[in-house]
Amino acid sequence: MKPVKIGILGLGTVGGGAAVVLQRNAAEIARRAGREIIITRASASDLTKSRLCDTSKMVMTQSGFDIINDPEIDIIIETIGGAGIVKEMVMQAIENGKHVVTANKSLIALHGNEIFAKASEKGVIVAFEAAVAGGIPIIKAIREGLSGNQIEWLAGIINGTGNFILTEMRDKGRDFADVLAEAQALGYAEADPTFDVEGIDAGHKLTILASIAFGIPLQFDKVYTEGITKITRTDVEYAEQLGYRIKSLGIARKTAKGIELRVHPTLIPERRLIANVNGVMNAVLVKGDAVGATLYYGAGAGAEPTGSAVVADVIDVVRALTSDPENRVPHLAFQANALANIPVLASGDFETAYYLRLNAEDKSGVLADVTRILADCDISIEAILQKPPANNETIVPIILLTQVTQEHKLTAAIAKIEQLNTVSGKVNRIRLETLG
Ligand code: NDP
Ligand code: HSE
Repeated sequence: MKPVKIGILGLGTVGGGAAVVLQRNAAEIARRAGREIIITRASASDLTKSRLCDTSKMVMTQSGFDIINDPEIDIIIETIGGAGIVKEMVMQAIENGKHVVTANKSLIALHGNEIFAKASEKGVIVAFEAAVAGGIPIIKAIREGLSGNQIEWLAGIINGTGNFILTEMRDKGRDFADVLAEAQALGYAEADPTFDVEGIDAGHKLTILASIAFGIPLQFDKVYTEGITKITRTDVEYAEQLGYRIKSLGIARKTAKGIELRVHPTLIPERRLIANVNGVMNAVLVKGDAVGATLYYGAGAGAEPTGSAVVADVIDVVRALTSDPENRVPHLAFQANALANIPVLASGDFETAYYLRLNAEDKSGVLADVTRILADCDISIEAILQKPPANNETIVPIILLTQVTQEHKLTAAIAKIEQLNTVSGKVNRIRLETLG
């Protein structure tokens, strides 16, 4: 049988990593796919740069459209990133009847509904395993492995750069900016690294996970995102004293009222496996009604781990080349005409527990005032930690853990606590999940 011909758009960290894997494991991959798979064309901005892979048998170009419009190419791998011109390239590739494999989570999260509609119309596959959690086959696990379940919730460390930064800061006391620069040098970070540290990249990934878990359209604009830039060493240390780790989690939960979609720093009990996922590693917990809790772990970024996911998608596409488009796994796990219009909840309706840190005068009655406000707002306290004043300070830190409550109640309570004359500055609030 004729080899399948691949064109890669973008030969950087992920495109280069995917090409390395395809080249090194070519024989094993052909045995799995049933056909030889060869990369005949690739695009990049700078044709003089050295590449991770062997480019001697590839025709290189600066224009992705040269590849998309080449009738010899069967499958396009898109690893440039971003939308704009890249969306145009993907839409044109689909229009030309080519299957597309992409690692581009922002493209899928923001334009996936339109892209998948076009792909279905043209009978082609758009595969995106590498877009979420790097090398972990989480899309396949949820879309196929758990397809008999009603997914109740999922929670994951889904940004490798952010987790790498938090781990290095906690374990080695390194500076935020210094660790971020290392993550960029290692090829983990997004072209705009604020996407990593402000929760936007994780928000894109959560959008995709929620869609395939609950059968809802992709809707990134409804995801609540909060970054890791405001996490302080003080909070990391107090959390540890109380038996918790702080991780940035993406959480999607189905409730009776609607779906919570949120990315934020989260206290997690240190005994949970996911609390011990460090460095660039990612992990995703998925709770199904039949299977119970399942956990998926692996490298969340980097050339070959992400390349592994890209190549798995290429093999899936090759295996499906001769299949009837009607009988393929739906792009978003559920049949396109069966997506549900379940409301996504506003942040005030989130239900979670909280860690609160406030600075208060070291005198009697202050703690009573704070606990009274919480009680009046219908918030129960789980634990209190009051630290002795440092040197001759008259202000002491008070740390409180609440039980699960609604976010709007907590917000109201914080506003009242901050008005107390005995409390100075802002109350620092971090959400807490037991993930039980
Ligand atoms: P890189 O910056 O390493 O690679 C981008 C590639 O695209 C480069 O080869 C660049 O050329 C090329 N390029 C840029 N603009 C154009 C253009 N207009 N036409 C043709 N080629 C172009 O990015 P990554 O590999 O890190 O990321 C690629 C995608 O994969 C992004 O969507 C990212 O979010 C996603 N991703 C990244 C992961 C990672 O670990 N890095 C993991 C999972 C997903 P040149 O090399 O000459 O500059
Ligand atoms: N910048 C992303 C991360 C790449 O650090 O997780 C993988 O999607």
